[in-house]
Amino acid sequence: MHVILCDSAAEVAVAAADLVTRRVRRGPAVLGLATGGTPQPTYRELIRRHREKRLSFARATAFTLDEYVGLIPTDPRSYRATILRDFAAHVDLPLERLHTPQGGAPDPAAEAQRYEELIAAAGGVDLQILGIGTNGHIGFNEPGSSLSSRTTVRALTRQTRTDNSRFFGRDPVPRLCITQGLGTISRAQEVVLLAVGRGKARAVRDMVEGPVSARCPASVLQFHPRTTVLLEQEAASQL
Ligand code: GLP
Repeated sequence: MHVILCDSAAEVAVAAADLVTRRVRRGPAVLGLATGGTPQPTYRELIRRHREKRLSFARATAFTLDEYVGLIPTDPRSYRATILRDFAAHVDLPLERLHTPQGGAPDPAAEAQRYEELIAAAGGVDLQILGIGTNGHIGFNEPGSSLSSRTTVRALTRQTRTDNSRFFGRDPVPRLCITQGLGTISRAQEVVLLAVGRGKARAVRDMVEGPVSARCPASVLQFHPRTTVLLEQEAASQL
């Protein structure tokens, strides 16, 4: 695990965008895209580079990490809608190569398996962008998840539902999700995990300094040969 301390969230975004830029310029890239608030400035930086004609995603493919069960793509709270809004609709990534688990699928377990196979058929993810939950989750792999799991249907913890309730207003946060497993994520060739803010400090400490344990799912990345962790000062404050 290569841990880099940045002065600010803006610096985290530029450093992450640099890693993505380097990979995308090298040739057809399979990108793993995270949703959530943390990567938004990174996406804005990538969009800026695209608009300035310094970067094209025309040859890229992308897979998102997870989706809420029951939310269809047109639901603005779905991660499909989120990644389009935050990134994909603003660059030249061909939308037929933007893959997301289908939250509205009638058989979520079969959909999870289809998604896992789709990632494998694309040759796996080259560069995976990740955020981290306050409880150490990555994707939606909550504490207790198997470290070798593949894409599957999972229940969200109360903590995660509370953390994400800000996106749902008065509506209840869904209870189930489809998420790439920790084993799926670990097979990405390269991982860049971003963390910003004091709320992430404990999860970051457990991920970087704790034992590799399902109690902190992100700690599995200690085994990953090419993971870069980009931290702003508050997120690094318990290291
Ligand atoms: C969500 C997502 C994760 C994300 C995490 C942190 O629940 N499933 O992929 O990394 O929470 O989100 P944020 O970046 O908004 O703090």
